[in-house]
Amino acid sequence: MKIFLDTANIEEIKKAVETGLIDGVTTNPSLLSQEASDPISHIKEIVRIVNGPVSVEVTATNKAEMITQAKYISEISPHIIVKIPITEEGIKATWELSKNNIKVNVTLIFSASQALVAMKAGAYYISPFIGRIDDISSDGLKLIEEIVQIKRNYGFTSEILAASIRNPLHFIQASKLGADIVTLPPKVFWQLFKHPLTDIGLKKFLDDWNSKFKNGIGR
Ligand code: E4P
Repeated sequence: MKIFLDTANIEEIKKAVETGLIDGVTTNPSLLSQEASDPISHIKEIVRIVNGPVSVEVTATNKAEMITQAKYISEISPHIIVKIPITEEGIKATWELSKNNIKVNVTLIFSASQALVAMKAGAYYISPFIGRIDDISSDGLKLIEEIVQIKRNYGFTSEILAASIRNPLHFIQASKLGADIVTLPPKVFWQLFKHPLTDIGLKKFLDDWNSKFKNGIGR
């Protein structure tokens, strides 16, 4: 199970990387537009911090321009994974790029049929958006279950990257269902560590120790 951070914020990435738990980063045009004045140098900075795959999305909508942008983005670093939206043009571009060994993350997946065509086109990652499906009163996690089954049935090699994660329960459920990767917004990443009983338990241990002994261990 790999954990990616879903942000383009440099400070958040640095802080999370210090835990040793971050395997990669996902960005999208919205996240980059919130953080960067020069997107390309910003991406270079992210790649320097994260020793792992960094997804960066094209902004073109036709196959030829998607491929041109994908080649440009992928030359920034071998760690770059090009994000391509699941459209007819996007699938054609994915097939072409994958044949030429450029790794593609097919994004904005909201149905099992979209996931299947993306896997068949050679996507390196596919990104189903769980939270946005829940937002329209449907079941995002059900989609993960379906995609995992389709991947297993046919031995597709694309990794399932559960995206649009809104809370730790999404993270745990996606892991249980067999998602290969979950990308977490920083807020949810830090929530993974928290439990009120841990805080209460730690306070009691330290209070008991300090009421009996003057110093900490080794001092
Ligand atoms: C995934 O790669 C996307 O950047 C992201 O998970 C979208 O999440 P949102 O629905 O919270 O915007």
